[in-house]
Amino acid sequence: MVTCYDASFASVISRTDVDCLLVGDSLGMVVQGHSSTLPVTMDEIIYHTKAVKRGAPGKYLIADLPFLSYQTSLIDGIQSAGRLLKETNADAVKLEGADKESITLVKRLVEIGIPVMGHLGLTPQSYQTLGGYKVQGKDPESAEKMLKDSLALQDAGAFGIVLEMIPETLGQEISQNISIPTIGIGAGRYTDGQVLVIYDLLGINPDFTPKFLKKYADLGNLILTSLNSYHKEVVDKNFPGENNVF
Ligand code: KIV
Repeated sequence: MVTCYDASFASVISRTDVDCLLVGDSLGMVVQGHSSTLPVTMDEIIYHTKAVKRGAPGKYLIADLPFLSYQTSLIDGIQSAGRLLKETNADAVKLEGADKESITLVKRLVEIGIPVMGHLGLTPQSYQTLGGYKVQGKDPESAEKMLKDSLALQDAGAFGIVLEMIPETLGQEISQNISIPTIGIGAGRYTDGQVLVIYDLLGINPDFTPKFLKKYADLGNLILTSLNSYHKEVVDKNFPGENNVF
């Protein structure tokens, strides 16, 4: 799974073997330039999800429920999730956490016919109460709680769970103890699948180098040198060339 936010990237991804696209609220950081995902709105997620669906109509598409679109009440959660599916034609929604209210919401959404993916570990919408963007589940109590939360999400009907920034041993334990797929980001080698933010795996930002990330390209530098070549050729009157004119 990779994240995706626009039709051009979606169109490239639609020609790859990648199984699944996530319109993550990470767009608040990598597209909008915020320092967290909290400012992202429902309208913005809907806007980006529609664009991705147009670019990759055949890929399985999950859209994030943004901060405060589902935490305020059961009704708000149902309306937000329903709106996401109705307006974007996404296949499923993802929500963070597994408190009592979230589990009730997951159950109800699944009953209504809305597929739900859970998200445990470092849940970025709660980064302030988690003490920042830190590895979660390091002590036995929080590890035990995360395993219980995973089982509760499974029992509520979630079809899969993203596990973010947890010890590899915990990622493995959870994956072995639940029957729905786990998709890891910084959760080690033993989850059923992996997810990365597309700009991160393509190396757009040379300064972003967390341990869990592997960069499969150096697009940031490629874009930089390409733009400087373009600029130089325009200044030197080498572009447009003979082949580019009417
Ligand atoms: O918002 C997001 O992109 C995510 C992934 C990193 C899992 O939740």
